[in-house]
Amino acid sequence: MLLFNMFGVITIFALFAVFDRGCWATSYRFPDNFLFGSATSAYQIEGAWNESGKGESTWDRHTHTHPEMIIDGSNGDIACDSYHKYEEDIQLLKYLGVDFYRFSLSWTRIFPSGFPDDINYEGINHYNKILNLLVANNITAMVTLFHWDLPQGLMAVGGMLNPRFVTFYTEYARTAFEHFGDRVQYWLTFNEPFQTCVFAYGDLMLAPALGISGIADYLCGHNLLKAHAAVYRLYNTTYKPKYKGKIGISISAEWLEANNTNEEAAAERIRQFWYGMYLHPVFSSKGDYPDVVKEYVAYHSSLEGYKQSRLPQFTEDEINYIKGTYDFMGLNHYSTYLASDAPSSSLETSYYNDYQVSLSSTGDSVANDPNSLIEVRHIFYLFPLV
Ligand SMILES: *[C@@H]1O[C@H](CO)[C@@H](O)[C@H](O)[C@H]1NC(C)=O
Ligand SMILES: *[C@@H]1O[C@H](CO)[C@@H](O)[C@H](O)[C@H]1NC(C)=O
Ligand SMILES: *[C@@H]1O[C@H](CO)[C@@H](O)[C@H](O)[C@H]1NC(C)=O
Ligand SMILES: *[C@@H]1O[C@H](CO)[C@@H](O)[C@H](O)[C@H]1NC(C)=O
Repeated sequence: MLLFNMFGVITIFALFAVFDRGCWATSYRFPDNFLFGSATSAYQIEGAWNESGKGESTWDRHTHTHPEMIIDGSNGDIACDSYHKYEEDIQLLKYLGVDFYRFSLSWTRIFPSGFPDDINYEGINHYNKILNLLVANNITAMVTLFHWDLPQGLMAVGGMLNPRFVTFYTEYARTAFEHFGDRVQYWLTFNEPFQTCVFAYGDLMLAPALGISGIADYLCGHNLLKAHAAVYRLYNTTYKPKYKGKIGISISAEWLEANNTNEEAAAERIRQFWYGMYLHPVFSSKGDYPDVVKEYVAYHSSLEGYKQSRLPQFTEDEINYIKGTYDFMGLNHYSTYLASDAPSSSLETSYYNDYQVSLSSTGDSVANDPNSLIEVRHIFYLFPLV
């Protein structure tokens, strides 16, 4: 398998939430309006990385220049070859009986450099063919605008760390709404902000693997939230009245359970760092980052000798601009971990140091621990709609 499961190969999504803490009774059934679907991302499946006018993305660059950072040295040059085999893939979706198909657009197929001046109509035509075929097969399209394959041309100017990212991303989104809006009922602005920013800019796990922890991850998240809000507002104002679609953001939330009863605050703190940081500014009535995140980053920044918090601040106007920019919340869930308080006196600048929590394990989830089965009951179904 190419890369690893963070891309969510075949994920079953559902558009309405069903939550249960106990056993499944045999009489339980999914409501009639519960939709089942399947999901992919462009880099993961398309291949044809340098065909039909497509530009280079950060994932192309990363896997070509650092194959040692991919577990088996493979790359997405060909992947599932879905760029050529999309007809067969849609037949498979039909055979599977899905209600909807979630897939992402490759930004560099549409704007090869990332800058919004050189549209590539071969890319537009490709997605038109997919959308038309989905319509013909009665499969609802759910489109992710950005699923990690940032144009390398934008990376050259700092990628998501550059405040102008907001403008370039908005122009790309506008182009997608213009060309595809009539056939797309559900849009997602970003897939998984935490993974996008912490694993790719703060850490070395995902492209572009900058590894500037405690700084780049926060800058990325800050611009991502502004870009999300700008694109939500663009759609809400200009396209929703015409097309009646919905637009949201998809956030990955692992369940983080207190290891001991006196460690509930630690569990809550890491929840706020992992996903509250992206949920609170958009979905809460107050807006802005969660207080505990602001406090902890400010405190550790000052201990380390920074004169200001490493967490950027939103202005009052920005808080209001970002707040409420959703029609639904996308929730991706993979696993569960146990959280423990882990006070550390380390003065190393690091996102992981900011929250002062340790987890049951970094690689294996509680789900793999037969002694911890009780925790696995925390199962989320995805995409509860408003
Ligand atoms: C595209 O990339 C492949 C390697 O995946 C290479 O063999 C081929 O020459 C490239 N084509 C172009 C037009 O650059
Ligand atoms: C199209 O799909 C919807 C559910 O996704 C279903 O209710 C409807 O019956 C389908 N229509 C046809 C013509 O298959
Ligand atoms: C979205 O548009 C509706 C209808 O015009 C408006 O009431 C709402 O405030 C808008 N949402 C945001 C966050 O701007
Ligand atoms: C969780 O708590 C148990 C018992 O108190 C302890 O042995 C274990 O080390 C803790 N786990 C972590 C990750 O701190």
